[in-house]
Amino acid sequence: MNFPTTRLRRLRHTPVIRNMVNETKVDLDDLIMPLFAIYGSKVKNPIKSMPGNFQLSVDLLVEECKLLSDKGVQSVLLFGIPEHKDETGMVGAHEHSIVSEAIRAIKKAVPNMYVIADICNCEYTTHGHCGTIVDGDVDNDSTLETLAAQAISFANAGVDMVAPSDMMDGRVGKIRETLDSKGFINLPIMAYSAKYASAFYGPFRDAADSAPKFGNRATYQMNPANSNEAMREIELDIFEGADIVMVKPALSYLDIIRRTKDTFNIPIAAYNVSGEFSMVKAAAANGWVDEERIVKEILTSIKRAGSDIIITYHAKEFADYIR
Ligand code: PBG
Repeated sequence: MNFPTTRLRRLRHTPVIRNMVNETKVDLDDLIMPLFAIYGSKVKNPIKSMPGNFQLSVDLLVEECKLLSDKGVQSVLLFGIPEHKDETGMVGAHEHSIVSEAIRAIKKAVPNMYVIADICNCEYTTHGHCGTIVDGDVDNDSTLETLAAQAISFANAGVDMVAPSDMMDGRVGKIRETLDSKGFINLPIMAYSAKYASAFYGPFRDAADSAPKFGNRATYQMNPANSNEAMREIELDIFEGADIVMVKPALSYLDIIRRTKDTFNIPIAAYNVSGEFSMVKAAAANGWVDEERIVKEILTSIKRAGSDIIITYHAKEFADYIR
């Protein structure tokens, strides 16, 4: 049937009918709020490039989690800024590492908060790379040891899920095997599977003090030009035991999210990263865009592309928008 018999505007006439045929809905249940833990007490360091986000000491992190929980945000993703860094990042796996301390405190004070911990070495190494340096590059297999050690430390602290973001080959299998050998058979892994070497991580690296001191991450993170390779990364992570696969960043990679959805039968997460967040904030601060509308549109587009879960710094304000 064609025009004039068919008129698509018929189903756009009123809010009721528009809502009735609405195809995509972003639910607060789908959102994860990233948070940054730092040593000390009553520390609240604003992250300049990410308005509304802070490096928080554990006491204030707990308060933030209470607030998020009251607003209906049910999950957080933790990153840590350590007191001291070392060559391999092993400080991040210490029993009393900043993230392990944060996990314990949050799970004690806000037991219903679903706490996910990012596993990576870049916040913990003196050189800012995601693993152990051998001959000027990150050595894959020795890095697997520090990653697995971090997983165990977080598991012992009571984390609900771990999320390796390092992009070493074989890390999901190594972490799964190590967790299982210590009895953590029910602790899920959300793998940063298709993680691109992206300029969109700029503000995060200020927040986590994790920028590489030499070179870049192109020998381990993916080339933004590649889509077939993303499917191989995801397939391997699924074989190695990932429970959820992630595409990161989100907005310039909506095609990758959609392709993953069409190719695999597994929950998908997308990371609406720091640079995506900061661009919205900068434009909104200038009055160039309507912030609330643009945030809703962005999150809806990530969902529509096929993501089940969205990690986003907008989670807290989104909770306010929909209340
Ligand atoms: C650590 C890590 C990064 C992000 C999440 N985990 C930074 C990076 O790879 O350099 C980026 C998150 C963001 O930009 O919001 N490897």
